[in-house]
Amino acid sequence: MKTLSLIGIGPGGPEYLTLQAIEAMRRTDVFFMLEKAGRGKEELLQIRHTIMEQILEPSRYRVVTAASPQRSTAGGYQRGVEAWHAAKRALFVELFERELAAGEQGAFLIWGDPALYDQTVSLVGTLVAAAPERYALEVIPGITAVQALSARHRIPLNRVGEAISITTGRQLAECDPSRVDNAFVMLDGEETFQRFTGQDLDIYWGAYLGTEDELLIAGALDTVLDALLATRQRARARKGWIMDTYLLRRRRRGG
Ligand SMILES: C[S@@+](CC[C@H](N)C(=O)[O-])C[C@H]1O[C@@H](n2cnc3c(N)ncnc32)[C@H](O)[C@@H]1O
Repeated sequence: MKTLSLIGIGPGGPEYLTLQAIEAMRRTDVFFMLEKAGRGKEELLQIRHTIMEQILEPSRYRVVTAASPQRSTAGGYQRGVEAWHAAKRALFVELFERELAAGEQGAFLIWGDPALYDQTVSLVGTLVAAAPERYALEVIPGITAVQALSARHRIPLNRVGEAISITTGRQLAECDPSRVDNAFVMLDGEETFQRFTGQDLDIYWGAYLGTEDELLIAGALDTVLDALLATRQRARARKGWIMDTYLLRRRRRGG
């Protein structure tokens, strides 16, 4: 049996690791690293290496790095995603068969929590379900960017009796602004929040949360919009990439 462990490492530096994640890392024989194209990806890979160096004895593990399959935009979004996932599954099987001996544990260090906007659980889960006599799956939860954002702004995820939605920039763009009450937005490269002024919404924004470059802005969206756009642009120019998350929250009378 080969054990595959998907370890949530939180959204920043090593201080976001849970004890459970550290224990799972210490049990791991092989860490699989996927190299992705795109600005900032090397930095996120480097953070994973720093975490391993801080937590583990160097001689006790191996690192196997592979180029991550790219998502094609040809043929539409859905077909592109399906082909990309199939290529990833094929790569995973190849890695598990070639790099892991029976009885060993292989792990992926997953940014944030493995269950939130990350497909590794379903991709590896499908492979494990197809060969339960060969593979076992372990998932270790991590702190999400959503939790880091609310903690850094010192706000609850929801007010009394309120629902929470967690969505993407792509989906927010199609939303009727008057229906947004308490929406956490991830994966938004298009500054979609700009479309939501004049709605009595507050924004709680954070970039590079949990890292030394962390940036935070909060306030009425209409008031902070210009400062937010300028800060985002400066950060992007300085680092060459940006990773941010925000909450759009409708103001309630009386707070
Ligand atoms: C592919 S999703 C992965 C989310 C991750 N699994 C989690 O639990 O947070 C990547 C998105 O998460 C958000 N994100 C992750 N880490 C972040 C950080 N340190 N600061 C701000 N946003 C972050 C950004 O919206 C980014 O586009």
